[in-house]
Amino acid sequence: MDRLDQSENATGASAGGTTGRVSPVLIRLRAVVAAARHHGLELDIRDFAGDSEEKTPSPATLARWVNDFGGVAKGMNVNWRHLVRMTNSPPIVLMLSDGSAALMVGAAPERGVVWLRDPLGGEADPPLPVDELRLSQVWKGDILLIKRLRNQSESDAPMNAMWLAKMVLREKKSLRDILFASMTLSILQIFPPLLVMQVVDKVVNQHSMATLVSITAIVVVFSFYEILLSYGRRELTLVLTTRIDTRLSLHLFNRLLALPLEFFEREQAGKILGRVVAIYKVRDFMTGKLMTTFLDMFTLVVILPFLFYMSSTLAWMTVAAAGLIGLIVVIFIGPVGRIYQKQMRADMDRSSILYETVAGIRTVKTLALEPARKQEWDVRTAEVVRWKLAAGRITNWPVTLSQPLDMFISRGIILVGAYLALTGSGSLTAGALMAFMMLGGRVASPLTGLAKLLDDLNEVRTSLGEAGAVLNQPTETKALTMGMRPQIKGALSFIDVNFSYPGSNARALQDVNFEVPAGTMLGLVGRSGSGKSTITRLLQGVSRSYSGYLKLDGVDLREINLTHLRRSFGVVLQDNFLFRGTIKDNITAGRPGFTIDDVVRAARMAGAEEFIERMPAGYDTFIEEGSTNISGGQRQRLAIARAVISDPKLMILDEATSALDPESEALVNANLERIGKGRTMVIVSHRLSSLVNCDQILVMERGQVADIGPHEVLLERCAIYRTLWMQQNRHTASRSAGRSLAEGG
Ligand SMILES: Nc1ncnc2c1ncn2[C@@H]1O[C@H](COP(=O)(O)OP(=O)(O)OP(=O)(O)O)[C@@H](O)[C@H]1O
Ligand SMILES: [Mg+2]
Repeated sequence: MDRLDQSENATGASAGGTTGRVSPVLIRLRAVVAAARHHGLELDIRDFAGDSEEKTPSPATLARWVNDFGGVAKGMNVNWRHLVRMTNSPPIVLMLSDGSAALMVGAAPERGVVWLRDPLGGEADPPLPVDELRLSQVWKGDILLIKRLRNQSESDAPMNAMWLAKMVLREKKSLRDILFASMTLSILQIFPPLLVMQVVDKVVNQHSMATLVSITAIVVVFSFYEILLSYGRRELTLVLTTRIDTRLSLHLFNRLLALPLEFFEREQAGKILGRVVAIYKVRDFMTGKLMTTFLDMFTLVVILPFLFYMSSTLAWMTVAAAGLIGLIVVIFIGPVGRIYQKQMRADMDRSSILYETVAGIRTVKTLALEPARKQEWDVRTAEVVRWKLAAGRITNWPVTLSQPLDMFISRGIILVGAYLALTGSGSLTAGALMAFMMLGGRVASPLTGLAKLLDDLNEVRTSLGEAGAVLNQPTETKALTMGMRPQIKGALSFIDVNFSYPGSNARALQDVNFEVPAGTMLGLVGRSGSGKSTITRLLQGVSRSYSGYLKLDGVDLREINLTHLRRSFGVVLQDNFLFRGTIKDNITAGRPGFTIDDVVRAARMAGAEEFIERMPAGYDTFIEEGSTNISGGQRQRLAIARAVISDPKLMILDEATSALDPESEALVNANLERIGKGRTMVIVSHRLSSLVNCDQILVMERGQVADIGPHEVLLERCAIYRTLWMQQNRHTASRSAGRSLAEGG
């Protein structure tokens, strides 16, 4: 089938030792899998999504793979001397020049050998000693070192301020450079005022040309440095924020994908999006205002002594005024914060209207709901505007109240200073007064900045809370990466399964007990809301909070790795999402390793071949957003093809054919018989006639199993089934009777 699987088979055949037919890349991947297994990490080669540019995966790419799936790994380049001394290390993957790899399981520096094991061999294979000369012919120093399992708390740690701060602080090098640049800048900033002081006192008062020339030279040099350094600081800050953003968005998306389906069903999509992006506000704050203010503090530390040196009276006045401004801001933090939170809520409510309207535009248009939506939008906008206005009004107060103090710092000080100079108290020269003026402003801004920072903290805290409400939900990460990966054949059993959806106290499933062997075609019938879809959802591990046991081939479902479980299933729902892309892309759904032959085979199985071939570009036909250019029946058949291409041992079809016209339905049903060979099928359908050929039919009633058996048996003994059957058949009978009457008339 696909490249990897073929090679897998070859591996099985070559267990005796001939590894000649296995592709080097596969050997390399297997070596990584073996090294990871040493730490208890079960990797799946199918998860490896290598860089398509690379022919053989590099240590860096492999390290990313391991890191993504819960390990801590690092690609390195070492020499023999280094390698042979790694005696106590876990297995190390040595990248060989032919693109394959070897597994180093030990080293003996005194004998000058390392012990290598064939990655394809088992644990029992004895390792071979290899010396420097032999190894150097095939190995150029690239290794992959898998150190340990990632601490679960690290990737699952709540995304709060601490977490973000840690992430920022991890950029030690950038931070250090920025700090250095800022401190130097702070010191440089002192010089111009001091020079002004000199110019006024010496040059102007004593008419000294020589001093002016040297001062000019100094000014030019310092200005040049200042320009250079501030350029550097901006550049460094830019690099820092970009790096943090990259890391943040990767993490964000991983976290979002790891959230259980249940969460997305419970929450409005628009709200989730609004909340998640709030984290960027926090990042903005951390690398923007927070950092600037922090760095400005240095300026303060450097400048304050100078101010006190020039005139302690004026210095105290400046500090006091700045302190008062801070106090005003702090007083207003509470009220502003409360209103800000309301504004943010209103904003988010409004964006979810926008999102819903765009996402559901078909329904909006076809039901002519525009006026209703517009009305809703208006109401929400009014709410947003109201809080925005309120927030603006209240923040206007601290600004107004602190303005006189601000003015005092910038203008009043000169008057006081002039007075001090005139009366001669405090020995203040004219030059010093000017220098003071220039520096005083620099003191006030960090101090008031600090206070405003507290103000911003409100906004940031709200944003962080919103983002955390989504991102700190319990994830499925553990279940997705841990657990067993047994060979799945498809025998199902439910033992005393009880389940209710979170937030509802009615039981969706009640004491469900049944069992079917592998390869069964199981039909699920029952009235709407009787729990049919719930059964299929439990099977896929969507909800795991059930009581009782659910077993797959006798293995408790909770023990099975969730990714492995879901990969073993092919699922077709009533309404399937097709991605933007070609038909071929949609059938493979981006999973690597499928050839066009696999795609055609799957399409044929799903009965989709004929219409695909009639399409203008065949398998390369582009599917538009919202699958506007294909019909509902065609979409269903594509979804079936997408499900069968990976040859799953279990298929779930939940009302997969309900939306189809009778002709397409008959076509799909005929194919289902073929698809069902060699796998377990669970088919939910309202049309009992399409389930007549099922091996077993499970009848559900209000979350309980009413009966299970083949069609004929159920018709005999199950009243509910008989009623449903009669209803439907009388219905079709009367309809056909009606039609023949109509035709007759
Ligand atoms: N996400 C959910 N949250 C809360 N309750 C739910 C959820 N999904 C289903 N239910 C409830 O669980 C019960 C069983 O629903 P289920 O979807 O399994 O029914 P069904 O047999 O598939 O019905 P239908 O034939 O209409 O698809 C219903 O009473 C329903 O109200
Ligand atoms: Mg259903």
